[in-house]
Amino acid sequence: MKKLILFISLLIATTYLVAQNTSIPHLQKNGNATQLMVGGKPFLILGGELHNSSTSGAAYMGPIWEQMKNKNLNTVIAPVYWELLEPQQGNFDYSMVDSMVYGARKVNLHLVILWFGSWKNGYSMYAPGWVKGNTEKYARAKNKNGESYQMLSALGSAAMKADANAFKMLMSHIRSIDEKYQTVITVQIENEMGLFYLPREYSDEASKAFISKVPDDLMKYLLTNKGKLQLEIDSAWKANGYKGSGSWEEVFGKSSEPDNKNWKALSYLPEELFTSYHYAKYVGQVAAAGKEAYPIPMYVNAWIKQPGFGSPGRYPAGGPVPHTLDIWRSEAPAIDFISPDIYTTMNVAQYTMEQYHRAGNPLFIPEFKPGIQSANMAFWAYGQLDAICYSLFGIDESKPADDPITKTYAAIEQVKDLVLNNQGKGTMAGIYLDSINTQQSFELNGYSIRAIITGTSALELAYNPNAKKVFAAGGIIIATAPDEFIIVGSDFSLTFTPLKPDISRPLLDVEYTDEGNFVNGKWTATRRLNGDEGTGGGDYGFGFGNNKAALMRFQKPANGDYSIVKFKIYRYK
Ligand code: DGJ
Repeated sequence: MKKLILFISLLIATTYLVAQNTSIPHLQKNGNATQLMVGGKPFLILGGELHNSSTSGAAYMGPIWEQMKNKNLNTVIAPVYWELLEPQQGNFDYSMVDSMVYGARKVNLHLVILWFGSWKNGYSMYAPGWVKGNTEKYARAKNKNGESYQMLSALGSAAMKADANAFKMLMSHIRSIDEKYQTVITVQIENEMGLFYLPREYSDEASKAFISKVPDDLMKYLLTNKGKLQLEIDSAWKANGYKGSGSWEEVFGKSSEPDNKNWKALSYLPEELFTSYHYAKYVGQVAAAGKEAYPIPMYVNAWIKQPGFGSPGRYPAGGPVPHTLDIWRSEAPAIDFISPDIYTTMNVAQYTMEQYHRAGNPLFIPEFKPGIQSANMAFWAYGQLDAICYSLFGIDESKPADDPITKTYAAIEQVKDLVLNNQGKGTMAGIYLDSINTQQSFELNGYSIRAIITGTSALELAYNPNAKKVFAAGGIIIATAPDEFIIVGSDFSLTFTPLKPDISRPLLDVEYTDEGNFVNGKWTATRRLNGDEGTGGGDYGFGFGNNKAALMRFQKPANGDYSIVKFKIYRYK
């Protein structure tokens, strides 16, 4: 009898644990941060996006999965193509999807699937032939002369239904082969959708809709959320008298020409919001159909507004740029967040990431240009803006040893649990420095902290004439206790000045600096850094210190890896 009771208790406990661990991937608010939960635990995506055509060939992909693992990614972002999934209407071929899921799973990688359905970079090149060739049924966007573009119309319900049906079949298949394993953790719907050349479509139907009233569902959303709307939409609505109904121009104001001197200025706003409304409604229905089958997190990505591409039509109009977020929330509730693709200068990149990191919209970057600066910017995105995903585009282009992201992800993998535990709590900061942004200041744990990029010093060069020039530096600093920090990164120094100096002990110094790593999530010191390798005395620091601030200088280990240090400040008089 006792044995039976024990057996039943064990069975209940195991069932409970299995049920907990297999809750499907979802988003969860923890503190001020929104986190991606996988297998019941917060997950940080160390990602890379494959080139567009890579996953169309299973054999081609064969060696690439292993290569991705060797780059220290934990997640690959990769397309599934409507044209190959449903080559004839109603006939589905899942072999490509299967090869992706099994290929990634075999090397213990997760997948973010990109649904290349109706649109990819504005155009409809991934729609199957039976959609592309039947423009009578699957309407195209039209210009002012009534000519068709190679872009499906966002007002076209037949294409939306066909896309939604295919996407639902895909999600249902993924659930059937993957729910237990959670290889696939998130899905992007379409890719950089939106209309090129014009801020809105000019078919008769579109022109009629543009001069008609703003649809009731959007009006209702505005009225219900009055006072809580995003600033950009609220100020346009307010400037036009907070009307409860009216045409797009009556509600949001007259259209204005682009300001060529200011790429951030909003132009053609009523047209753009109209276009966003239709893309969001279309894509919202595609996402909702997919979620009926398998409700894991789903998002949309944008070709961003940026210098040289400041007006809708120069960037795809109607795509998920941050000043249209409320339209997406209203019309596409099945879309969990909007995200940016970043191929711009580092300053604009930081501005863009801040724009996307809004309450309820976690920062998820599916595409960032590759390179040494981007590999360092990853630290800033995770540490400063609680990014849940960072990912470089064209990740299968270079070998692990040649790609600077390999070392970044090796370092972040070590501290990822610490990073996840500190998201949304104000106990962590990200650092990014380069030849233009040589300094960065912020406050943390009662200190004003200044980070400065450190070039390759004369002494380093004397020891190692091949020492590399420092092009960019990145790091994450986490407050672990009063006066105590864990820092990961390289090539910068930090100066800590107390926000409230202690009059009885006004002077500061480093108590200790330990280099180390995390083994099974537990900090393990491997070396005490002092003297030349530390901050006090030695040839590096001797004689030039400011004893009212503590200095922490990050030196690169000889192998060029990022280091992780635990560091404590003490005060004296
Ligand atoms: C952005 C797109 O989203 C990607 O699919 C790819 O085409 C890159 N541009 C190429 O740079």
